[in-house]
Amino acid sequence: MALHYPRKIKLAQTPTPLQYLERASREWGHGHRLWVKRDDLTGCTLSGNKVRKLEFITAHAIDNGFDTLLTCGGVQSNHCRATALVGAQLGLGVHLLLRGEAPGEADGNFLLDHLAGAQINCYDPAYFVREIDALFRHWQEDYAARGRRAMVVPTGGSDGIGAWGYIAACEELAADFRAAGIGQAHIVTATGSGGTQAGLTLGAALHQLPATVWGVNVCDNARYFLDKVASDAAEWQRRYPDAPAVSVTPRVLDGYVGEGYAIASPAVFELIADLSRLEGLVLDPVYTGKAFAGMLAEIADGRFADCRDIVFVHTGGIFGLFPQKSAFDATVAAAAKSADRA
Ligand SMILES: Cc1ncc(COP(=O)(O)O)c(C=O)c1O
Repeated sequence: MALHYPRKIKLAQTPTPLQYLERASREWGHGHRLWVKRDDLTGCTLSGNKVRKLEFITAHAIDNGFDTLLTCGGVQSNHCRATALVGAQLGLGVHLLLRGEAPGEADGNFLLDHLAGAQINCYDPAYFVREIDALFRHWQEDYAARGRRAMVVPTGGSDGIGAWGYIAACEELAADFRAAGIGQAHIVTATGSGGTQAGLTLGAALHQLPATVWGVNVCDNARYFLDKVASDAAEWQRRYPDAPAVSVTPRVLDGYVGEGYAIASPAVFELIADLSRLEGLVLDPVYTGKAFAGMLAEIADGRFADCRDIVFVHTGGIFGLFPQKSAFDATVAAAAKSADRA
């Protein structure tokens, strides 16, 4: 289908590899071949799924005369960290509105936000949830009063502009599938603000990718993401009326949030350690760990029985692992003990 992409700024190291997980397939595949689209490798600190979205978001900001990116997320938001770094790389101001108390010790993404020179305001979570629209308005007006122009980038960069990132990634996946001899696949991604899933779902339809896209929600519930993905896709269609009309069917694998956003169960931490050992592939406890665990549970349940190949999109998030490192104390202690015995 002829697609006219808006301008983007090349930020991501793409194409990322599609990697076959031989040992994980044997261990957990139940006859499926497990693949990973390594979007954790879109960069080093400027890495993960958000970079693909930011390629289009930053071009839009610059082309429309904005000098500052104003966005929001949790204290350990990967999206905020990527935005902070990209702003520094392009000479744009970045202002982050963060949900939650500033941690006593700057770690993980929060540390990188500071290194990148972002302006940061932390808010009480309940206040943040209630007032985020008003906060965006307040700060936009504040910039305007100082002769600046701040563009609001929604949570996760998930809107019609950001959707292009994963629409474009589907072209890459089509080439990956041809090279790997994949005729039909299920694609599984963590879904947190819905934009990656929306882009993949749109992109699969637009590029006739022989794949069904599933989001494993790491917060909220299936209803929320069915609506959010549909509404991001509709906003994309409205914003780009010359793009081909597509109908999308969002699909959500619910049931893997656990106790809440960013709270992983011991089983998820165990899986992170197991996969690191088995394949040298490191997941994070907030997004990819839960999503990978969900994918394995659904495989075991026979959800994907109709096709052999399953592609997990590794959306990054490594810096979110370090602030939760104490969950691995027992793993580290056991490894130290067995080294002592050797
Ligand atoms: C590492 C990681 N994976 C997955 C997601 C989910 O992507 P999205 O917000 O586009 O749903 C996010 C961000 O929310 C993320 O930081």
